[in-house]
Amino acid sequence: METFQHDVLIVGGGGAGLRAAIAIARDHPDVGVGVISKVYPMRSHTVAAEGGAAAVISPTDSLDDHAYDTISGSDWLADQDAVEILVENASKELLQLEHWGCPWSREPDGRISVRPFGGMKLERTWYAADKTGFHLLHTLFQTSLKYDAINRYDEWFVTSLIVADGRCQGVTAIEIRTGEMHPIGARSVILCTGGAGRVYPFTTNGNIKTGDGMALAYRAGVPLKDMEFVQYHPTGLPGTGILITEAARGEGGILVNKEGRRYLQNYDLGQPLDINDPNHPQKQTMELGPRDRLSQAFIKEREAGRTFEGPDGDYVHLDIRHLGEREIDRKIPMVRELAVRYVGIDPVHKPIPVRTVVHYMMGGIDTDTNGATSLPGLFAAGECACVSVNGANRLGSNSLTEILVFGARAASVAVDQAGQVPPPSNQLLTTSARSQEMKLKATLLHPNGGSDTVSGIRTALQETLEEGAGIFRDGATLERTCASIAQLQDRYEKLSLVDTSRTFNTDLVAALELGAMLEIGEAIAHSALARTESRGSHQRTDHPDRDDDGFLRHSLAFRGEGDPTIEYKEVTVTRWPPSERVYGRA
Ligand code: FUM
Repeated sequence: METFQHDVLIVGGGGAGLRAAIAIARDHPDVGVGVISKVYPMRSHTVAAEGGAAAVISPTDSLDDHAYDTISGSDWLADQDAVEILVENASKELLQLEHWGCPWSREPDGRISVRPFGGMKLERTWYAADKTGFHLLHTLFQTSLKYDAINRYDEWFVTSLIVADGRCQGVTAIEIRTGEMHPIGARSVILCTGGAGRVYPFTTNGNIKTGDGMALAYRAGVPLKDMEFVQYHPTGLPGTGILITEAARGEGGILVNKEGRRYLQNYDLGQPLDINDPNHPQKQTMELGPRDRLSQAFIKEREAGRTFEGPDGDYVHLDIRHLGEREIDRKIPMVRELAVRYVGIDPVHKPIPVRTVVHYMMGGIDTDTNGATSLPGLFAAGECACVSVNGANRLGSNSLTEILVFGARAASVAVDQAGQVPPPSNQLLTTSARSQEMKLKATLLHPNGGSDTVSGIRTALQETLEEGAGIFRDGATLERTCASIAQLQDRYEKLSLVDTSRTFNTDLVAALELGAMLEIGEAIAHSALARTESRGSHQRTDHPDRDDDGFLRHSLAFRGEGDPTIEYKEVTVTRWPPSERVYGRA
């Protein structure tokens, strides 16, 4: 068995991971850095981001406005010190990307173009047409190639964190190509593994978003914070769940029910503005309300029988025809491409069928504003982490900014801490990898004649989460979901694979991912059951009001022998005391 060592090891090669790696290689050329990812970095899910990244650039905008929109959008659950760090560093990060080659869209006079986005009072979302994630990830990846100090482990799957002497000292990982288990030692480890949307049946998230990093931390005793807050995006394509970007509404698209009505005017999101008025600002109104409210409105429309019925579930129409072919092709070409390719509709001529779809996890690994977790030597950044800037509801376009700001920030502190501890011993590394290998051989790779399959357990998990922990929840359905997940975990314990070969065993990877998904599902359902209030994306029909006295607090799910333990910690309020969330009434 080969062993590897780096000063800092980054798990995940998407936006947060690459930004962290570049920060280390550029600012600390003597520090050795490894980036390990279960996919080739350019296949990380950052590539799928479409609409843009938020940062104050216009002279009429302000950091306080960006912070306020983010905090009120979060239903006051975001930590305000973290939000201040986000908004203060946002434009610096986006300009830095431009210097590395990111082709931000521009106005004819050369200024950076910004577009309106949901829940933001002013236009502050920078974009590269509607392929922002692709360009952002490409820019980071190309930049990372300049640095010889960055060592990559592409298509390696991390199976555990190595924890000894009370700190994280590396990981064990399977090289997927050979199936061999190896230890990779490190003095600091940064988890940048993204979210876990795949625990739900219908999601914009790629297959790889299975919560692996969150589960690694959870198993090592680090709590998962605010896991009950799951973001549904209001406009996914029926069937595939592919994202139709909020940019379509930012550019003026409207949502219409089967009666031909802009139904959002029924939901306290402001009045419809004249879409033919070229100067209308669309400030935080109607289609540019926050995602939690829009997704809840979709369900109410469905309950009232005003959605279309289709083979892939109910849907409404997103109409962008009035923008005209030229503007559509210039500003949101991928919306057209996706609609034509996946639902056979050209939005230049017909409205696009859309429905709500799981998009993002507000919750994640509990970190401080430096990305540090409660386990010394372990850091986290990006969607897998909860720092927390998103609280109970993230505003679209804040997450691309978040991965950059907090990826770089975690890197800097991880380097400092790495300098204060010795490297792990070879003995620790080899013992850890051997014990992981033995565990694998005694469980998933040990034939036991059982008939359960990875896909069977995974589908059951997805269904029970959607049923019990969807857009609207209540105590009874959540209890059923918690019980079902416990049963699925028992079944998983006995799972054995038919394919026990080691070379590129994708069945084995899927089974390991499923183990993580079950733990993420458990944390979501139990955290949601314990929060007996409604806030942001967590709507309890049996507790419909927000309860600041009881629950202006972050939940922390700790892994237990049986059910997780749920504890709470205070939200940091700096300058914006909690108040009512108001949209579209200005
Ligand atoms: O709709 C979108 O383009 C999504 C953006 C985001 O989630 O930040």
